[in-house]
Amino acid sequence: MNIDDVKKIAVIGAGNMGHQISLLCAIHGYTTTCTDINENILKKAEAFTDSYLPGRVQKGRLTEEQARAARDRITFTASMEAAVKDADYVIEAVLEVLDLKRKIFADLDKMAPPHAILASNSSAIISSKIADATKRPEKVLNVHFFNPALVMKLVEVVQGPHVSDETREISMALCEKLEKVPVHLKKEVDGFLLNRIFGAITREALWLLEMGVASMEDIDKAQVYGAGHPMGTFRLMDLTGIDLTYIMGMEAFRETGDVRHLPSPSVVEKYCNGEYGQKTGKGWYDYRDK
Ligand SMILES: NC(=O)c1ccc[n+]([C@@H]2O[C@H](COP(=O)([O-])OP(=O)(O)OC[C@H]3O[C@@H](n4cnc5c(N)ncnc54)[C@H](O)[C@@H]3O)[C@@H](O)[C@H]2O)c1
Repeated sequence: MNIDDVKKIAVIGAGNMGHQISLLCAIHGYTTTCTDINENILKKAEAFTDSYLPGRVQKGRLTEEQARAARDRITFTASMEAAVKDADYVIEAVLEVLDLKRKIFADLDKMAPPHAILASNSSAIISSKIADATKRPEKVLNVHFFNPALVMKLVEVVQGPHVSDETREISMALCEKLEKVPVHLKKEVDGFLLNRIFGAITREALWLLEMGVASMEDIDKAQVYGAGHPMGTFRLMDLTGIDLTYIMGMEAFRETGDVRHLPSPSVVEKYCNGEYGQKTGKGWYDYRDK
C-alpha cells in the first residue's frame, strides 16, 4: 500500500478535534466519513461544516466549486460500521480514556478493511497501549494533530516499536497532502515533542517565579520579546486553564511516576482557590474588570 491508495478516510469522534480533522480531509480531496455516538455532536459538526465552507469562499481561500466539492465529499453518520467499512485510513479522536480507545480499536479491527491504517489522535495515550487490541499492530500509530486542527500546521507522527515503516511513510505523506507539517517521532515518549518542550518551559517559568527571580509579567515579557512567543507561560496558562495544567500534571505523574510532572506549589494554590484563569475571571492575571 502507498499514499495513492488512500482515497477514503473515516474519523471517529466529531468533537473538538474530530469535526475539524474530517473537514480538513474533505477539503483536501478525500472522501470522508465522520462518526460519533452522540447525534447532537454530529449535528453540530455538520452545522460547522455548512458555515465554515462559505466563510472560506468569502475570504477567497476556496472557490465556490472547491467548497461544494468538499461538502459533497463529507458525510456524517452515527454508525461506526458504515463509516469505516470501506475506509483506507481511520483517525480516532474520541475521549481520552484508554479502555474506550481499546474497545474502539478492537471494533475498528473487525469493521475496517484489512489494509486500513488505524491512527489515534490521542495527546497522551501511546499506540503501544492500544495496538494489541487489534490483529494489525503494525498499522496502529499515533498521529497527533493540534487544536484547532484546521489551522495548526504541526502533526506528530509517532512510530512505536510495533509500527511498520510503510504505515509511518503513508501517515507522513497523508499529513503533507493535508498541507500539514509532519514530524516523525522515532520512539514513543510521554507528551510527544511539543507538549514535552512546553512542559519544560512551563516548569522553568514557574521555578523562576517561585524562587523570586522575576515577576510573572517580566517572565512573560522575556518569552514574548526575547523568544518571539505569541504569549508568555502565565498568559498562556490563563488562556488554556490552570485547572488543566494541574490535572494534566497529576495525570502525567500518576502515569509515569516522574516527579517533574507534579504541579508546582503556586499552581496547586491557584487550583485550590478556583483561580483557573480567564474562565473564572482570575488566574495569574486579573480579568474581572474586563
Ligand atoms: N482538545 C484538544 O486540544 C486536543 C488536541 C490534540 C489531541 N486531542 C486528542 O483528541 C482526542 C479527542 O479530543 P477532543 O478534544 O476532540 O474531545 P471531545 O470530547 O471534544 O470529543 C470526543 C468525542 O468522542 C465521542 N465519542 C465517545 N465515544 C465514542 C464512540 N464510542 N464512538 C464514536 N464517538 C465517540 C464523543 O461523543 C465526543 O463527541 C483525545 O484523545 C485528545 O487527547 C485533543
